Formats: sequence, structure tokens, C-alpha cells
Amino acid sequence: MAGATKEGFALNTPRLVMLPPEEVRDEQVLELYNDESTMLPWLPFLCPMKPEAMKKRRNFHRLEYQEGRSMFLDLVDRETGELVGTSGFRTIEYKSGEAEWGVVIRKPHQRRGLCLEAYQASLEYLKKELRSQGILKLIASTLPSNEPMITFLLKMGLAKRGTHTFGGNEWQDYELQVQ
Ligand SMILES: CC(C)(COP(=O)(O)OP(=O)(O)OC[C@H]1O[C@@H](n2cnc3c(N)ncnc32)[C@H](O)[C@@H]1OP(=O)(O)O)[C@@H](O)C(=O)NCCC(=O)NCCS
Repeated sequence: MAGATKEGFALNTPRLVMLPPEEVRDEQVLELYNDESTMLPWLPFLCPMKPEAMKKRRNFHRLEYQEGRSMFLDLVDRETGELVGTSGFRTIEYKSGEAEWGVVIRKPHQRRGLCLEAYQASLEYLKKELRSQGILKLIASTLPSNEPMITFLLKMGLAKRGTHTFGGNEWQDYELQVQ
């Protein structure tokens, strides 16, 4: 459910607060991106990441968030305050009516159902707030070797729709027509 916090906008799940990419969490997100066990096999173009590159990336995410062109959020464990991942819409394309969903859950927190919580909150937001603005498809991309992500996307009912090349790798594209 979307709601207000002292920081402003947030999506709430049973165990997570999903917050905008505020500067206060930049260092924690940098640490997450440099955690090779979480990132390297599946998102090699983001790991390792230097502080200057992260600052640029986060500033860009903040700008896009303010302009409604993306909503990539920080996942904070509401009990411990720990940053456990990032998730949300990497892009919101009003012209094509598609929003690209993505997720990273830090290794020690995987297989606890947190990705599922982040996905459900994102999809609910899409249906409540973005569908009326013409966003009718949730899309996602992953490396073909990323069995965890592929298993998850198929379980959520997304269908494979093709491939594209990025960073020298072929990525598999998935989509869900939002009812
Ligand atoms: C893919 C990823 C986001 C899953 O996050 P998670 O919080 O562990 O997932 P959940 O616990 O919510 O799992 C939901 C379902 O996804 C599937 N799944 C998750 N991890 C899986 C794995 N390692 N192997 C097979 N299926 C898996 C299962 O169906 C699982 O349901 P189950 O636990 O009842 O069997 C996580 O492994 C991750 O962050 N990986 C590194 C970054 C990444 O690859 N991001 C995507 C880039 S495109």
C-alpha cells in the first residue's frame, strides 16, 4: 500500500518500507552494488561500482523519480532499518504504456519472500496509480542464466517475449499484461 512517511512517499509491505532513492541511503546502496555474491553473476554491468558512478546513477534516479519517469526504490527492513535491496520500476514509459520492473535482494536476505513482497507492492501501485495513466504492461529482463529470477517471473505469470543485447550479453525479456 502506498502511504506517507516522514520522508514522503513510500510503498509498504508486511516487512518492508520501499522508499525513494534519497541521498541518506546512497552509501548503503553502493555497498549493496559492490557485494559480489549478490550482484556479479546476474548484474555484471553494475558490479563493481565506484562511488562517483553510484552518485551519478542515484542522482539520475532521483531526477527520474521526481519527473515520474522511474520509481526505483530502496527496500528497508521495517524492523531492523537495514537496507535489504532495491526494487521498483526502472523505467515508466508513457508512450509505449510499459513499466520495467527490477529487483535486487541482498544475499543474506534471499529466499525469505522479500522479492515477492516488493513485486506485489509494485504491481499494486501500477494498478492503482499508473494504469489510469496508460501503463498497461509490466516488463522485466534478465540474463538467461538467472534461474532464480526466471523462476520468479514465470511464477508471477510473466511470459517470455524476446531478447535484447546489452553490455555484450543477451537478455531475456518478459511481460505481463496488467488486467
Ligand atoms: C532473484 C531474486 C530477486 C529473488 O529474491 P528472493 O527475495 O530470494 O525471492 P523470494 O524469496 O521472494 O522467492 C519467491 C520465489 O522466487 C523463486 N526463487 C527465488 N529464488 C530462487 C532460487 N534461488 N532458485 C529457484 N527459484 C527461486 C521461487 O519460486 C520462490 O518461491 P519459494 O521460495 O516459495 O520457492 C534474488 O535471488 C536476487 O536478488 N538475486 C540477485 C540479483 C538479481 O538477479 N536480480 C534480478 C536481475 S534481472
